[in-house]
Amino acid sequence: MIAHSFAKAAPAPALSIVAPAYNERPNIRPLVHAIARAMGEATWELIVVDDDSPDGTAAEVAAMVGEGAPVRCIRRVGRRGLASAVVEGLLAARSELVAVIDADLQHDETRLPVMLELLRTSDVDLVVGSRHVAGGGMGEWDMRRQRMSRVATWIAHRLAGVAVSDPMSGFFAVRRAVVEAAIYDLSQQGYKILLDILTSSPRPLKVAEVGYVFRDRHAGTSKLDVVVLIEYAFLLIDKLTRGLIPPRFVLFCAIGGLGLACHLAVLDLAIGQGMAFLPAQATATLCAMAFNYVLNNAITYRSARLKGARFVLGYLVFSAVCSLGALANISVANLTLREMGSWPLAGVAGALMSSVFNFGVATHFVWRPRRRRRRAKVVLRADA
Ligand code: GDD
Ligand code: MN
Repeated sequence: MIAHSFAKAAPAPALSIVAPAYNERPNIRPLVHAIARAMGEATWELIVVDDDSPDGTAAEVAAMVGEGAPVRCIRRVGRRGLASAVVEGLLAARSELVAVIDADLQHDETRLPVMLELLRTSDVDLVVGSRHVAGGGMGEWDMRRQRMSRVATWIAHRLAGVAVSDPMSGFFAVRRAVVEAAIYDLSQQGYKILLDILTSSPRPLKVAEVGYVFRDRHAGTSKLDVVVLIEYAFLLIDKLTRGLIPPRFVLFCAIGGLGLACHLAVLDLAIGQGMAFLPAQATATLCAMAFNYVLNNAITYRSARLKGARFVLGYLVFSAVCSLGALANISVANLTLREMGSWPLAGVAGALMSSVFNFGVATHFVWRPRRRRRRAKVVLRADA
């Protein structure tokens, strides 16, 4: 075999910086320049992980690549999520030392050299940019968000036993080896990747904290909404059940429980209006199914959310699935009652059966991520 000789590889930069970005086009250029100013003589690379933002974030990164800036873009198609984007960026980093920073300039990039220095000169594993130590602050956050953040932090301290002052921070620097050691245990749910790393590491990590003041957003809007709270719940469920129960299933069942309450309320109302039991029960069933469908579409399967005609079609398929689930429910309950002779046990077994059935089948047939197919055409055949 004739070996090819490769040119000497360029040395890895001192720091790889990962910035998750969704619709941050106007912030990319200011971010790159701010980092360049802050890093001074130290070498660095910036990896923007973009989830196919419709505003053309990836094209803006490409433009900066063209100008020779040490940046690149990982563009993910058909996927969303801050935590998983960060993980993907961390794994692609060329340096052993990596930092994570928001793309909207809300984190203070002038702290990056301090973080890098700490990783270089001490044996700490991770440096957290914290709003709750000396030199740190919440910036212009309104009371509502401050309160939300405080509650989330309190839960992290209590439930996950994390001692870091700002486990909600998305601004930190870490040794890549730390992430790699925890990689299979990361849940990658939602927003809180730092908390995920802290609670997934096989050994206790040595952590340093550096204060920073949370800035106003440079341009664009925050992606934080109710869904982020739900995703935080996902992360906690995943951590507390050690990944045994899919968080999505827990959510599906919780919505099912609310659906049952909806069913009973409608039934009560209909019977109160003088309707006979069977039509009342049928009406209540339809209402509960619609209720479950709408909530699951908005929350549980938000990343595959159906709209327009697909929403209607999805509802029909969902109803069919639930009807089959009900049949499965009744047969299992019947069997359990015969074998065990206890009706509460039979009720639970039936409900469990239909939840698992509905969840599995609906995930597959109603909210399956869509693929666009394009057939290839042969336009040229070259003879060898
Ligand atoms: N690739 C990708 N995919 N990036 C995303 C996604 C996504 O689904 N969602 C958000 N981002 C990017 C944003 O573009 C931004 O650069 C960064 O992640 C943070 O998102 P924001 O929507 O700006 O979050 P925030 O300002 O409300 O929340 C910040 O404050 C928290 C402190 O409590 C974030 O910095 C959090 O990381 C931080 O923990
Ligand atoms: Mn932000």
